[in-house]
Amino acid sequence: NLDKLELLNRKNQEALLGGGEKRIESQHKKGKLTARERVELLLDEGSFEEIGKFVMHRSKDFGLDKEYYLGDGVITGYGTISGRLIYVFAQDFTVFGGSLSETYAEKICKIMDMAMQNGAPVIGLNDSGGARIQEGVNSLAGYADIFYRNTLASGVIPQISAIMGPCAGGAVYSPALTDYVFMVENTSYMFVTGPNVVKTVTHEDVSSEELGGAMTHASKSGVTQFVATNEIECIRNIQKLFSYIPSNCEEQAPFVSYESNGQEKRPDLLKLMPENPNQPYDMREVIEQLVDDGSFFEVHKYFAENIVVGFARIGGRSIGIVGNQPAVMAGVLDINASLKGARFVRFCDCFNIPLLVLEDVPGFLPGTDQEWNGIISHGAKLLYAFCEATVPRITVITRKAYGGAYCVMNSKHIGADMNYAWTSAEIAVMGAAGAAEIIFRKEIAEAEDSVAELKNKVDEYTEKFANPYKAAHRGYIDEVIYPEDTREKLIKSFKMLENKAKTLPRKKHGNIPL
Ligand code: COA
Repeated sequence: NLDKLELLNRKNQEALLGGGEKRIESQHKKGKLTARERVELLLDEGSFEEIGKFVMHRSKDFGLDKEYYLGDGVITGYGTISGRLIYVFAQDFTVFGGSLSETYAEKICKIMDMAMQNGAPVIGLNDSGGARIQEGVNSLAGYADIFYRNTLASGVIPQISAIMGPCAGGAVYSPALTDYVFMVENTSYMFVTGPNVVKTVTHEDVSSEELGGAMTHASKSGVTQFVATNEIECIRNIQKLFSYIPSNCEEQAPFVSYESNGQEKRPDLLKLMPENPNQPYDMREVIEQLVDDGSFFEVHKYFAENIVVGFARIGGRSIGIVGNQPAVMAGVLDINASLKGARFVRFCDCFNIPLLVLEDVPGFLPGTDQEWNGIISHGAKLLYAFCEATVPRITVITRKAYGGAYCVMNSKHIGADMNYAWTSAEIAVMGAAGAAEIIFRKEIAEAEDSVAELKNKVDEYTEKFANPYKAAHRGYIDEVIYPEDTREKLIKSFKMLENKAKTLPRKKHGNIPL
């Protein structure tokens, strides 16, 4: 019997070593942790329970019948983060370069199925040379089995991907189907085809980092929403994200108990707003004033910086914030801002996270670049996402709400629950100067002093529309508020809306303009 215990001991030791000490050393030399070290860091201490530790591949081709590793290159199981159940898989680069085999994919699918049945998130830690080349189509089939599950799980449980090494070819599509992608600067990269293929096909000379590194995907493609300078920071960010989101679509997000100290007024908000409506200010500073101290967790920070999105808490309640950013391109909506906003709104709506919209938007960005690249369809995504969202939705118009962008940015008409406006709000079809030039063109042209006439007309339009009262008279704005009262109003109204129950018309699924 001792021999039998000893056998298990030996196998356990062997599995822990993955591809062996040499390869572990080489992983560390690259500034990377091993798959097991990552799992240990991610989950609460001692909470990890491994599933499928002794699984081995069944391939016989190209010498694989002589090379076996217990676990077959991926570590799978469950554990907790802050006491909440999480399923995890971590690709082990020390075993066949973390490449995906048939059995490896089966291990991932097994925990994905369990996660779905038990209503808990899946976190994938990716570090892989792609399909296990020796296995051919069996490996590709494994990828497709995972993609299928990623898609079915979308909107049911949160799915998070961290890229902590290579992720190329077909391997990129599982992360792409998940809710959030995290990357690490200088050690991770994602691309459909690597620099060598790019060089052959398009004759471009580009490094891996430039083609598909963390900052490239954070700022240019928008594929990744979170960038860290090292793996530990990356894992801490994943843990932080979980503090704002529920474990599945039936649950509410975690509530942090909150005692008001009676100091909810924020007089500094008034000082933030410049006298001149064409001067920028930083919407992040408005957010910091409104939310519980230090609770703002920005998402997609480096992409489409003309819109700011992220999670926060207000009165202990988890919310998602979408704010136009007047400090970048005057907060105009363009293609990328629409994509960023729409994706975030849909995530929040999937997972019962109420939405706060902070609006200061001069409209959609004009120009051939935007039109030819489809601002109409992309802008419609943001509109669609808001229209469809059934979570509590509150808008605060801080300044400009012009044109179609007024409708899009969570207006009353498309289902927002509470619409507030600051005294500085301007709700109109466009800015006064542009409006006057169009509707009074004749009067201005025929006037003796056309400059003075233009000014008169601009003043007239400003007086009529550059304020929140026309909209408030109609009830499109529920209340015009003093900026300093905003936090208090939001705490109360999110509480008032906490039992909101709204259902959409029955359908198979909508047809969002993709
Ligand atoms: N299938 C099988 N084995 C693979 C593999 C794959 N797709 N990718 C890497 N490996 C193995 C290597 O043979 C090597 O094995 P060894 O430790 O026994 O020598 C080990 O993984 C590490 O790979 P190595 O190339 O030494 O690491 P690296 O850090 O220098 O480079 C990659 C990493 C991912 C850039 C490189 O391995 C690569 O280009 N792999 C192939 C990528 C690919 O085309 N995948 C298929 C399409 S999805």
